Amino acid sequence: MSDNRRDFLKKGTLLGLSGLASTLLGKDKIDKLEEMSNQLENTPAFALPKLPYAYDALEPYFDKQTMEIHHTKHHAAYVNKLNETPSTNIDYMSNDEVKCTHIDKYWSAVIRNNLGGHYNHSLFWTLLKPNPKGEANLPSGKIAEAINKDFKSFEEFKKEFAEKSTKIFGSGWCWLIKQEGKLKIVTTPNQDNPLMKLEGERGKPVLALDVWEHAYYLKYQNKRADYINNWWNIINWDQAEKLYTTK
Ligand SMILES: [Fe+2]
Repeated sequence: MSDNRRDFLKKGTLLGLSGLASTLLGKDKIDKLEEMSNQLENTPAFALPKLPYAYDALEPYFDKQTMEIHHTKHHAAYVNKLNETPSTNIDYMSNDEVKCTHIDKYWSAVIRNNLGGHYNHSLFWTLLKPNPKGEANLPSGKIAEAINKDFKSFEEFKKEFAEKSTKIFGSGWCWLIKQEGKLKIVTTPNQDNPLMKLEGERGKPVLALDVWEHAYYLKYQNKRADYINNWWNIINWDQAEKLYTTK
């Protein structure tokens, strides 16, 4: 069969099906379905999440300008790059946590860096909360029990977390993870995270701290230790406990 004839038959079949659908569903419903389909096609696969607080809400610990640039420039850049880099290997229907656990299947530096960047920052924002009055900010409930059990005390835990995050060479993240039921502090370089099937420790993130210079340089310059020290005031422990107690 010639290509012209095949095209003619194909178009004819599609026109027939479209006519049948119009008869069965009505033109209004068909138009609505077409509109929904177009919207879906034009919706980017990855979206920059809104912050659950204002850019200045974490003052005086994290400053407004850093938060705004961090969210609208750095995090947005990871999201934009991901949307510009479609991959036939990615299961776009799965959530970002599941995508990270399958990073070995999507292997490419672009996907690894930008998927990590998007997931890590999305998690980081939810693990922060305003503390304008500078009240004591300590964990409670099951997460507090687990910290005391696995690190002897909250002070010991803080000490180890501060040491490990301060010592990260260059850019990276410090994590509190749940690994086979036990809490552990681990670090990852660049935008890697402990969900990814890579070298190093793996587990479910419970706390995340961004120690890239872009997270603190405007306010703290080279004093990463001061940034870390102030971060303890704005940790959202309720969210950390939720991550710890859910699968
Ligand atoms: Fe960051």
